[in-house]
Amino acid sequence: MRSLNYLGILSLLLGVPTHSLKAHDFKTCSQSGFCRRGRALSARAKEAGEAWSSPYSLDPSSISIASNQAIFIAGVKSALYPEINFGLELRVHDDGVVRVRMDEVRGLRKRYDEAASWALISEPTISSDIKWTAGKKDIRAAYGPKKENEVVVTFAPLTVALLRNGKEQVVLNGQGLLHMEHFRTKTQEVTHTEEAAPQEGAEAVSDDAQAVITPTNPRAWFEGDKEDDYWEETFSSWTDSKPKGPESLSLDINFPNHPVVYGIPQHATRLALPTTTGESPFFSDPYRLYNADVFEYLASSPMSIYGSIPVLHAHSADSTVGIFHAVASETWIDVGHSAEKSTETHWISESGILDLFLMPGPTPEDIFKQYSRLTGTTVLPAHWSLGYHQCRWNYVSSDDVRTVQKRFDEEDMPVDVFWLDIEYSEEHKYFIWDKKNFPDPVDMINDVATLGRKMVVIVDPHLKRTSDYPVYQAASEKGLLVKTKSETEYEGWCWSGSSAWVDFFNPNVWDWWKSLFKTQQISTWSWTESTNAVHIWNDMNEPSVFNGPEITMPKDNIHHGGWEHRDVHNINGMLFSNLTSQAVAERSEELTRPFVLTRAFYAGSQRFGAMWTGDNLGTWEHMAVGVKIVLSVNIGGMSFSGSDVGGFFGNPEPEMLVRWYQVGAMAPFFRAHAHIDTKRREPFLLEQPYKGMVKDILRLRYSMLPIWYTAFRETSVTGLPVLRPHYVMFPKDKAGFDIDDQYYIASSGLLVKPVTEKDATEAKVYLPEDQVYYDYFNHHAYRGAANGKEITVPAALHQIPLFIRGGSIVSTRERPRRSSTSMKADPFTLRVALSRTGTARGELYLDDGETYAHRAGHFVWREFVAETPKKKSRTLRIASRDMGVARPGEAVDGVVLKAFNPANAYAQSIADVRVEKVVVVGLNSKPKTVKVEGGADLNWEFTLGVAAADKKEGTASILTIKDPRVSVVKDWAIIVEW
Ligand code: NOJ
Repeated sequence: MRSLNYLGILSLLLGVPTHSLKAHDFKTCSQSGFCRRGRALSARAKEAGEAWSSPYSLDPSSISIASNQAIFIAGVKSALYPEINFGLELRVHDDGVVRVRMDEVRGLRKRYDEAASWALISEPTISSDIKWTAGKKDIRAAYGPKKENEVVVTFAPLTVALLRNGKEQVVLNGQGLLHMEHFRTKTQEVTHTEEAAPQEGAEAVSDDAQAVITPTNPRAWFEGDKEDDYWEETFSSWTDSKPKGPESLSLDINFPNHPVVYGIPQHATRLALPTTTGESPFFSDPYRLYNADVFEYLASSPMSIYGSIPVLHAHSADSTVGIFHAVASETWIDVGHSAEKSTETHWISESGILDLFLMPGPTPEDIFKQYSRLTGTTVLPAHWSLGYHQCRWNYVSSDDVRTVQKRFDEEDMPVDVFWLDIEYSEEHKYFIWDKKNFPDPVDMINDVATLGRKMVVIVDPHLKRTSDYPVYQAASEKGLLVKTKSETEYEGWCWSGSSAWVDFFNPNVWDWWKSLFKTQQISTWSWTESTNAVHIWNDMNEPSVFNGPEITMPKDNIHHGGWEHRDVHNINGMLFSNLTSQAVAERSEELTRPFVLTRAFYAGSQRFGAMWTGDNLGTWEHMAVGVKIVLSVNIGGMSFSGSDVGGFFGNPEPEMLVRWYQVGAMAPFFRAHAHIDTKRREPFLLEQPYKGMVKDILRLRYSMLPIWYTAFRETSVTGLPVLRPHYVMFPKDKAGFDIDDQYYIASSGLLVKPVTEKDATEAKVYLPEDQVYYDYFNHHAYRGAANGKEITVPAALHQIPLFIRGGSIVSTRERPRRSSTSMKADPFTLRVALSRTGTARGELYLDDGETYAHRAGHFVWREFVAETPKKKSRTLRIASRDMGVARPGEAVDGVVLKAFNPANAYAQSIADVRVEKVVVVGLNSKPKTVKVEGGADLNWEFTLGVAAADKKEGTASILTIKDPRVSVVKDWAIIVEW
């Protein structure tokens, strides 16, 4: 195969030199008309200081309260345009979330208002416990169990505030930056200065606006003096015709007394978002949300990358609040701090209505629950998809795939999935095998599947425009493709050359798209050369268009319903993975869980599969920032996430590759991937000792699969992320607010500090509490402190700083196997890591890992508890018991279980699976007897070391109980006595 790099391919396709596709291919705020207008508005406000006042006010006589007090509706006007009407609507949901919507009413056109309908799982239930009380200046409603929450709408100027115990938590328009540009008719260019004469001696506010600040000239005072890019905008060689004219939305959202904010992924930056405004902002541009294929993205930047989740957490030691803005158009967000303890944000979106969800918290945990009630939880993935994925652009032939598989097996390295990038397809016509190199695709897939493994094959959203591509032909004939502003089929360039894009907003696409994945011929064209062992990778779905503005589609392209691409850009990619995951799930009679990896994502994408952080570079910097990006997408609900292990671009030296495997093994999604132009770097190609190190890491990941799967189960039920940064675990600990290079794995009790530095031999780890933490590998006991403590731990190349928090019980499967499927009947090892007070607890969740039988109650969910029974101070009882039915209100993938039978068919099928070893860490002294309750003495060993209750550090005492002959699905207890 030709060896071309990414740039080379681009250059070949476009016939243009593609030099460096970096920052300058993408707009800065000052190059984007509406962002510039939004920032200028805020600059004018700042300049005017106290004199600034929002022109928006609510007309109290228009207030109506509907649905039995639950919905509050009122008319809003801007003093600048009295003839224009806006409607404000507030609803309080039964869990305390407040939804604030504002739209232009009876305007010249309709603003896009469907973003929430794609993001939300269902229409939220409205509280029946709300009573609005109107006063002269405001209307308010107190709610919550103790009426601790209150929402207050002030009439003039219009503000909306959420209060807790009388203290403001979130304030909208407190700074007067609300501005919904109304639809208007294009006449000749109007400058606001024409409306009123400038006042003498008035000051100019910014370089570009010669506006004159004078309240006698209110439009210029507020909006600036000219129609800045209202009707057309040019960037580089592209011109965006703006047939609808200006329709941007600006809003300041302030969080009094919340000094830190997290979220609004995806950006390559720290988890605690650095400022973009103020005296010395960290970034000069606002954070941008505009799904983009940024070639060689910067490792520290507020620029957009592939996905956008408009969710923000504002945090302080005693409160967390969140917001979700259901807007799908390009959005810029400024972040600054006014007083030391508050955060001010300014949201500027190009189009759409205001549809904002205020999540009252008051803890991070509450926010995750509130958010997942809106947009759903991460779907419980297929078990195999938590194993190791081997990818590269490209495995070049079916024999190449077979050889790679053989090499893994020869080296006894576990792997679950082999991936095929775009070169499997003939001329990049997805679904169509390139028979020269893949003459026998079904045989190849079966050769992989026979060994219990899967394949993931790429299907991108661009279709090659050629008469010999039935998929394109059908889409074109049926009118299923995105259109240009003149309503003709849109043509752009991507991997397949001249391409067209399927319009997933069109309901007629849905069944047709699903029909393509059927492995039986059911329509004119179905993917019969595929099997149920094939899963799908959706790439380039920002969408990436090589010759489009900012490497994407023109904003004036038209989607189903007549909406412009500008209105839907950020949700476009989510629809693709949504439909693909449905297609894979439904492709055959046998319903199995689909796996779909997506590059672009939006709020709600967690329901459809996994994401990865895109084309990272093989640098230490990218390795480090990848950890932060993954944490921040976890905050945004996308728990199933990871980065390309090894770095997409470049040839990592062995040390870097080993560290990258460590990072990957400790991430929810674990896949190695490499650019077409890189050297082969499958782990079996490494020299010793690196090869051995990577093999150990792969085996570690597999031994921990029960932990990962249990973590995903928890996430799929509660909405809490799989990876939890410090502020989520210890919200009160200020010292942890900025920590984003170590994290916990769900509630397993595991704390990870991935090493992302060259030549490291040790690492610093922050322990936030007065608790013992054991090194996962050698059980060295470290001590934290109530006010936090930093410890230094060994971190030579073969070592991962991984700890078990005292008080946890973790379940692993320690027998090395070639894939996760061969582990299904393997016995378990339980690690009981005693807390300072001598107790521990953990959970284990198991099901068949592939079907939906778990939704009907076919699963095993155990709780392990170690404690000293009352009045038996010389006993430790380690018990296994059933977790029973999901707790009230809990649902698996949105399905609430009504009844649960612990003796379900799945549980019975693994009744013989044993716990083969129990390791108790941190006992005080050697026990006298160790027995299964009501049974004989067991075979055990004890080595004396540091006890959990000690103050000392050093290797902990270890009690190893060998083969207690207890089933993992049954209730039992092991009694340790002195
Ligand atoms: C871009 C993706 O980010 C990368 O992972 C993939 O290898 C190439 N597209 C080719 O499909």
